[in-house]
Amino acid sequence: MSRASGSAAAPERAATVEQEAPSTPAAGKGTPKAAGSVTLRVARFDPYRDTELHWQTYQVPTVPGMTVLDALFSVKEHQDGSLAFRSSCRMGVCGSCGMFINGKPRLACQTQVVELGDTIEVAPLPNHDVIRDLVPDLTPTFEKHRAVKPYLIRQDGAEMEAPTREFRQTPEEMEAYLQFAYCLKCSLCVAACPTVATDPHFLGPQALAQAYRYTADSRDGGWAERLPVLDTTHGVYECHLAGACSEACPKGVDPAFGIQLLKRTVVRGGPDRAPAPVMGPLPPPSDKTPDGKPRLQAPPPTV
Ligand code: SF4
Ligand code: FES
Repeated sequence: MSRASGSAAAPERAATVEQEAPSTPAAGKGTPKAAGSVTLRVARFDPYRDTELHWQTYQVPTVPGMTVLDALFSVKEHQDGSLAFRSSCRMGVCGSCGMFINGKPRLACQTQVVELGDTIEVAPLPNHDVIRDLVPDLTPTFEKHRAVKPYLIRQDGAEMEAPTREFRQTPEEMEAYLQFAYCLKCSLCVAACPTVATDPHFLGPQALAQAYRYTADSRDGGWAERLPVLDTTHGVYECHLAGACSEACPKGVDPAFGIQLLKRTVVRGGPDRAPAPVMGPLPPPSDKTPDGKPRLQAPPPTV
């Protein structure tokens, strides 16, 4: 099975073959534009037949509130069942419907057709290989994410495995990382990044922002484990601060800012906060209250 290169997904490079949509009365190039309809140019790629992307054009009747994802479903249900794209939640939560829509990486389910004009071009995300049609291969994004150890790392392993209490934080400590915790792993920032476009080995904005998310978390003690992945040729210093990632993010995450904070942390030799406290198991509960009175017991179950 061959795959189209991600960089070939940009419309101007992908528009190598113009093709009629399958024979339905309303579909296809040259069909008079119906009132309340939009022209959808969709990049197509079949790994078993094609060596490069080509465009296919559909005329789609619009309804109020229609998103680009709705328009793609309309094509799939009424004109061309072979069209492949990825989606799940349809509400900007799962991050699976990232596409290159009118020249920008966007979530198809969060993009209103009415805001895009009479012709809408939809291609797979740049900087990703294409599995089929609008389905990008997100494997490199997920591998880079995994490489920065995107989870709390603590020295009290027993407490991590079988927690006896909460790992408490103040609101200020939570504020230090909260915006980065909204990441959907949609990879739009990776698609927008000019550095990833020139070096696919660059860790990229998604992974680096998540490295900062955990580094800034007062419950984490994993800096020494993450540093070898971050302080490398393809790590934090390869970011040129273009800022395209932050502009593309549909959740208001600012990966470019997170990467600069991460650079500062590397230069300073670690996070400038107290190390995460090591917690032992809680003592067994007392049958007395702190002022010496007997603690009320829950009544025995009735069933
Ligand atoms: S930082 Fe934003 S654009 Fe990048 S993967 Fe997370 S949610 Fe998507
Ligand atoms: S379908 Fe889940 S974010 Fe679009």
